[in-house]
Amino acid sequence: MPSEVIRYAEVTSTNDLARDHARRGAAEGTVVVARYQTSGRGRLGRDWYAPYGKSLLMSLILRPPAALAHSAWLTLIGGIAAAEAIKAGADLDVRLKWPNDVRHAGRKLAGVLTETQRQDEGTVAVVGIGINVDWSADDLPEELAETATSLRLLTQRDWSLDELLAEVRRQYLVHYRTLLSGEIAALRRHWSTLDETLGKPVLVDAPDGTWRGKAVNLDEHGALWVEDVAGGQRRVVVGDVSISFEE
Ligand code: BTN
Repeated sequence: MPSEVIRYAEVTSTNDLARDHARRGAAEGTVVVARYQTSGRGRLGRDWYAPYGKSLLMSLILRPPAALAHSAWLTLIGGIAAAEAIKAGADLDVRLKWPNDVRHAGRKLAGVLTETQRQDEGTVAVVGIGINVDWSADDLPEELAETATSLRLLTQRDWSLDELLAEVRRQYLVHYRTLLSGEIAALRRHWSTLDETLGKPVLVDAPDGTWRGKAVNLDEHGALWVEDVAGGQRRVVVGDVSISFEE
């Protein structure tokens, strides 16, 4: 087993364990993976549900330069990496909904939660990625029945969690190097090949309220620009968008 992967059966959240390992000196690129989380977290204070042993639950430890520590791209490239790892295993039309949803036909397959901290040796970012892999229809709780799916449900076959982990990590580190070298235009182009948000009418749920508009651009900082109904362009940095189908 490569030394850069630290495995657990059960944890509170792989992001917690990754933060602890980082504090104890784990190198950049180390991944913590678990079969089950008792307190899995999503963005915006939500819970992240995953039945035992049926999801990829991983957290990647990064030590970005201070200027990059709060970059939204750390999350966006998590989505790109997860989407690409999935597409490497199956010919699925997987799409990215800003900022962190990996979806198929509007149903969520994976999500990304980045948590950044100052530690003694500098800034640590933990990029947590969860992918719904081996769920059967019975594993979908009622509240996710209409909005989530899994690789098993989409492809009717087994997937190796280890292979998926290795591919997500590999892809992430490729895009992370691009980020470190400042090639944001390349990352924006890459995002746009997988994006399903831009050009769509959206319902924005942001700290300034809930409002409708049309997603028009992803800027170099990873923020989403949305044209509101009055024709003004508003920059969304924190929040969520739902893609709505009525104009
Ligand atoms: C989201 O879509 O809101 C983000 C979901 C992130 C889930 C992953 S699973 C591994 C890591 N540990 C956590 O507690 N959360 C992330």
